[in-house]
Amino acid sequence: MATQRLMVLIFLHLLPLVAIADQDAFVGVNIGTQLSNMPNPTQVVALLKSQQIRHVRLYDADQAMLTALAGSGIRVTVSVPNQQLLAIGQSNATAANWVARNILAHVPATNITAISVGSEVLTSIPNAAPVLVSALQYIHSALIAARLDSRIKVSTAHSSSIILDSFPPSQAFFNRTWDPVMIPLLKFLQSTGSYLMLNVYPYYDYMQSHDAIPLDYALFRPLPPNKEAVDSNTLLHYTNVFDAIIDAGYFAMTYLNFTNIPIVVTESGWPSKGDANEPDATLDNANTYNSNLIKHVLNNTGTPKHPGMAVSTFIYELYNEDSKSGAISEKNWGLFDGNGRPIYILHLTGSGTMLANDTTNQTYCVAKEGVDRKMLQAALDWACGPGKVDCSALVQGAPCYQPDTVSAHATYAFDAYYHRMGMAEGTCDFNGVASVTTTDPSHGSCIFPGSNGSNGTFINGTSLAPSSNSTTSGKSSPFDSNYSVSFLRLIAVLVLSLVFL
Ligand SMILES: *[C@@H]1O[C@H](CO)[C@@H](O)[C@H](O)[C@H]1NC(C)=O
Ligand SMILES: *[C@@H]1O[C@H](CO)[C@@H](O)[C@H](O)[C@H]1NC(C)=O
Ligand SMILES: *[C@@H]1O[C@H](CO)[C@@H](O)[C@H](O)[C@H]1NC(C)=O
Ligand SMILES: *[C@@H]1O[C@H](CO)[C@@H](O)[C@H](O)[C@H]1NC(C)=O
Ligand SMILES: *[C@@H]1O[C@H](CO)[C@@H](O)[C@H](O)[C@H]1NC(C)=O
Ligand SMILES: *[C@@H]1O[C@H](CO)[C@@H](O)[C@H](O)[C@H]1NC(C)=O
Ligand SMILES: *[C@@H]1O[C@H](CO)[C@@H](O)[C@H](O)[C@H]1NC(C)=O
Ligand SMILES: *[C@@H]1O[C@H](CO)[C@@H](O)[C@H](O)[C@H]1NC(C)=O
Ligand SMILES: *[C@@H]1O[C@H](CO)[C@@H](O)[C@H](O)[C@H]1NC(C)=O
Ligand SMILES: *[C@@H]1O[C@H](CO)[C@@H](O)[C@H](O)[C@H]1NC(C)=O
Ligand SMILES: *[C@@H]1O[C@H](CO)[C@@H](O)[C@H](O)[C@H]1NC(C)=O
Ligand SMILES: *[C@@H]1O[C@H](CO)[C@@H](O)[C@H](O)[C@H]1NC(C)=O
Repeated sequence: MATQRLMVLIFLHLLPLVAIADQDAFVGVNIGTQLSNMPNPTQVVALLKSQQIRHVRLYDADQAMLTALAGSGIRVTVSVPNQQLLAIGQSNATAANWVARNILAHVPATNITAISVGSEVLTSIPNAAPVLVSALQYIHSALIAARLDSRIKVSTAHSSSIILDSFPPSQAFFNRTWDPVMIPLLKFLQSTGSYLMLNVYPYYDYMQSHDAIPLDYALFRPLPPNKEAVDSNTLLHYTNVFDAIIDAGYFAMTYLNFTNIPIVVTESGWPSKGDANEPDATLDNANTYNSNLIKHVLNNTGTPKHPGMAVSTFIYELYNEDSKSGAISEKNWGLFDGNGRPIYILHLTGSGTMLANDTTNQTYCVAKEGVDRKMLQAALDWACGPGKVDCSALVQGAPCYQPDTVSAHATYAFDAYYHRMGMAEGTCDFNGVASVTTTDPSHGSCIFPGSNGSNGTFINGTSLAPSSNSTTSGKSSPFDSNYSVSFLRLIAVLVLSLVFL
C-alpha cells in the first residue's frame, strides 16, 4: 500500500486555501439488513427518529422501507443492487422500469435524494464495469423524463482502493485500469452536478499498514507534532487518515482534470468487536472513531485541500449485522443491536444535533452524600416549589416516599428538575449539594425521571433526544450559579482531553 510511504516532515507555513463551502455537511447512517431479528420498517424508522438521524442510505430500494420512511422528513439514498446492474446497464427500458417502480412510486412522500447505482462495482464485480456508466445515464434519463433529475443525484459508490499511491495525497491517482470507466463517469458526475461517492475505511488502511499508521492517526486523536503527516508536495498537514483519503480522492480527480466534483463518503466506520487477528476492533476504538468522525464532519472542517468544504458522511452502519458471514468484525460495525439498544455510548456531548447528543448518555442527578442537611432541605423545597418539579411521588403512600429521608427525597426532586431541563449543563448543582451520576437511582416502584422505565425517555430500550427547548437560559434556577456552570464546562473539557489522550 502507498501508505507505507507515510512520511514525517516539518510543518511549514501554508498559504491559506480558498474555502469552497456552500452548505453544511450531514452525518447519515447505512442500513444493512442481515440481522437474525431484523426490526420491521416501522421500528427502524422509530429508531431513526428517536436518534434524530435525518439521512440514511439503503442497499436496495425496499418497498416496505421506503413506505415506512414516507412523511418522516428523512433524506434517503437508495441503491441499485449489484445483481440488477447488468440488466439496467444494457437496457434503457429496464432502467426506466426500475425508476418507475422504485422511485416514482415513492416520491415526493419519501424524500429520495440520491441513487447509488451499484456498490464498489469496479472492485467487486468488475465484469459489470463496462456497463456502469450506461446504467447511470439510463437511470438519469428516466429521472429527467419524470422531472426529478434536479432533486435526485445519480452516482455509484466506490471502494477507496481504486485510488493508488494515496499518500502523499497529492500523488494519488485512480488505478489506470479503470480510466476507460472513470473518465466518462467523472464527466457524467460533473455534467449532472452529482458527486463522487467514496467508501472510506481508515480501519483497513490502519490494519494493512503494519504499524506504519499510528492508531491515533486513524482514530482522529491528536498526534505529537513530530508524528503528524505532511504532504511534501503541497506541504498540507494531515492530522487523520480520513482526511488524507478524501484528499487523495480530490487529487486523483484533479489528475484527470476534474476539479469541481464534491465527495460524499457513502461508508465509514469502525468495528466494535473482532477475533484475535483484529485486536483493535474494540468498543473503545469504535466509539472513539465514530464520535470523532461525527464531530469532525458536523464541524464542517473539510479537508486540508478543501478546508470548510462539506464532506457529508454515512456511518457504516446502523445495526450490527449478526447474520453476515466472514470475520467476527463483519458482524460488528453497528451502532445498535436488533432491539435498538446502543452497542456503545458515543461521546458527542456538545455537538448536539443528532444521535440524541449522546446515543444514551443516561445520567441522573442525585444529592451528594455527607452534605449539609439544611442546604439539602432548602434545595428540595426550591425544586418542589419555584423549581416546579412534580413532587407528588414523594408524598406518603406514593411510590417514592420510602425511604423517607431528606437525601432520598432531594435526589428524586433534583433528578426530576435535571431531566426537565434536558440534563443541560449547570442544572444539577443546587449550590453544590447535587451531582451527576450514571447509576439509575430508581428502586422498586419508584422510577426516576430519565430512567429506563419512565416517561418516553426510551423506546424499547433506546434513548430519545432531550427536548430542544431544554436550556437554562431565562428561567434558570438560582442554584445554577455561574461558578457551577463554568466548573462543569471545565470538567467537560478535562473529560474530553482525557478521551483524546
Ligand atoms: C416495543 O416493543 C413492543 C413489544 O416488544 C412492541 O409491541 C412495540 O411495537 C415496540 N415499540 C416500538 C416503538 O418499537
Ligand atoms: C428533501 O431533501 C432535500 C435535500 O436535503 C431538501 O432540500 C428538501 O427540502 C426535502 N424535502 C422535503 C419535502 O422534506
Ligand atoms: C431512455 O429512456 C428515457 C425515458 O426513460 C428517454 O427519455 C430517453 O430518450 C431514452 N434514451 C434512449 C437512448 O433511448
Ligand atoms: C488495478 O486494477 C486491476 C484490475 O482490478 C488490478 O488487477 C490491479 O491489481 C490494480 N492495480 C493495483 C496497483 O492495485
Ligand atoms: C488535463 O489537461 C491538461 C492541460 O489542458 C492536458 O495536457 C492533459 O492531457 C489533460 N489530462 C487528461 C487526463 O485529460
Ligand atoms: C472546527 O472548525 C474550526 C474551524 O472552522 C477549527 O478551528 C476547529 O479545530 C474544529 N474543531 C474540531 C473538533 O474539528
Ligand atoms: C455524559 O454527559 C455528561 C454531562 O453532560 C458528561 O460529563 C459525560 O462525560 C458524558 N458521558 C459520556 C460517556 O459521554
Ligand atoms: C443537547 O443538544 C442541545 C441542542 O444542541 C443542547 O442545547 C444541549 O445542551 C445538549 N445537551 C447535552 C447534555 O449536551
Ligand atoms: C433498561 O431496562 C432493561 C430491562 O428492562 C435492562 O436490561 C437494561 O439494562 C436497562 N438499561 C439501562 C441503561 O438501565
Ligand atoms: C410521566 O410524566 C408525567 C408528568 O411529566 C406524569 O404525569 C406521568 O404519570 C408519568 N408517567 C409515568 C409512566 O411515569
Ligand atoms: C419549543 O418551544 C416552542 C415555543 O416555546 C414550542 O412551540 C415547541 O413545540 C417546543 N418544542 C419542543 C420540542 O418542546
Ligand atoms: C453571571 O454571569 C453574568 C454574565 O456573564 C453576569 O451578568 C452575572 O452578574 C453573573 N452572576 C453572578 C451571580 O456572578
